Amino acid sequence: MTTPPSPTVALATGRLGVLTVGLGAVASTLIAGVELSKRGLGSPIGSLTQMGTIRLGKRTEDRSPLIKDFVPLATLDDIVWGAWDVFPDDAYVSASRAGVLESGKHIESISDALREVRPMQAAFERKYARNLDGEHVKPTTSKRAMLNAIREDINRFKEEKQCDRLVMIWCASTEIFIEPGRVHMDLESFEKAIDANDETVSPAQLYAYAALLEGVPFANGAPNLAVDAPVLRQLATDRNVAISGKDFKTGQTLMKTVLAPMLKARMLGLSGWYSTNILGNRDGEVLDAPENFKTKEESKLGVLEDILQPSKYPELYGNVFHKVSINYYPPRGDAKEGWDNIDITGWLGYPMQIKVNFLCRDSILAAPLALDLILFSDLAARAGMGGIQEWLSFYYKSPQVAPGLYPEHDLFIQLTKLKNTLRWMMGEDVITHLGREYYEEM
Ligand SMILES: NC(=O)c1ccc[n+]([C@@H]2O[C@H](COP(=O)([O-])OP(=O)(O)OC[C@H]3O[C@@H](n4cnc5c(N)ncnc54)[C@H](O)[C@@H]3O)[C@@H](O)[C@H]2O)c1
Repeated sequence: MTTPPSPTVALATGRLGVLTVGLGAVASTLIAGVELSKRGLGSPIGSLTQMGTIRLGKRTEDRSPLIKDFVPLATLDDIVWGAWDVFPDDAYVSASRAGVLESGKHIESISDALREVRPMQAAFERKYARNLDGEHVKPTTSKRAMLNAIREDINRFKEEKQCDRLVMIWCASTEIFIEPGRVHMDLESFEKAIDANDETVSPAQLYAYAALLEGVPFANGAPNLAVDAPVLRQLATDRNVAISGKDFKTGQTLMKTVLAPMLKARMLGLSGWYSTNILGNRDGEVLDAPENFKTKEESKLGVLEDILQPSKYPELYGNVFHKVSINYYPPRGDAKEGWDNIDITGWLGYPMQIKVNFLCRDSILAAPLALDLILFSDLAARAGMGGIQEWLSFYYKSPQVAPGLYPEHDLFIQLTKLKNTLRWMMGEDVITHLGREYYEEM
């Protein structure tokens, strides 16, 4: 198979407008973190675009620049923030309310920048997140009117803030579970469904549709249906607008996509994986509704089967009991605690166990992923790469792939794919790790 020619990547000149749908814990932590980094008051730990290096050429060449020096990414100083939310709180109030960041150290010092980010009215209907009750919503529930209003917001923001380019990222609450149906198959049906206020067209789909119509790359931090609906996937390809997967891969699933490939690499068997979490932030409250949790559950359950391929290894993975639950527990706020009990089998079928207890901070893990997705989606746009960006699978619980392909969940394969894509974009050799050349020259 020959490698396709590298694209020409336009330089990142001018301002990059970032529109976050939702200005809650993740979005306010993202904005605060970027503003703190810009002023040298915090370090963007967890962000590959800001801290990662990339090896180029042979191991003997000693060429490993920072990714941000290798590919022409927008700088943090280029970013201009915009948002929508169901609540009118600006990013200062939202960050203070979310309780993720220390107020003295990480909120007050950038209060001016945070106060400037005031959300636009949300396109929202309570039936998609019934545990949310905010008043800062568009004065219509007509889907067509909501779609038009989002498009107007996008264009007004772009003009007012004098942005050269935009990226939209869904950091809003997880909507109820919607399976793609007939209305999601083609543009004609989708347009008709919008006019008929069809229930299966949720606000997330309207934001995503508006983004694609305006040529704005779209990333989805939550598991609800958006650009993964066939109609929007096709539109993104036709209009050459970058889209990627859904649901930030942060805590327990991040662990899963590291541990499960390890079991499979060693041909160790698995009989059960029991995962449970306690979480007390607003995300946890929304997910406390069964219809919203179902969306999350689907996204979390999918990974093991894709990684372990039980049909290929029925003896090792043909009968795995996999359970995931999230329990809303307010005292913990954003500090999520996840437990995993993993029952594995070894040589001759002897049972063993692995226990994982991850005391994490949800938004601290998600913010750097959001930043990378924003900067890489913008990079893809400047490289003329539209449609599904599978190389961004690294960031998602549910990577988006071409129809008929299974997604790659293994974190390190995802990272290799991401870095090879960057090498290819910049005209460098991709790295296969074959490594024969080091021995042939000896
Ligand atoms: N933090 C993580 O580790 C992580 C990981 C994976 C996915 N996620 C997802 O990211 C999303 C954001 O998480 P969070 O902790 O910031 O939640 P949050 O509840 O703090 O913030 C979400 C915000 O979205 C707003 N919102 C809801 N519907 C909206 C709409 N239609 N338009 C505009 N705004 C709307 C809400 O009012 C709220 O302020 C959630 O869906 C969550 O499941 C988070």
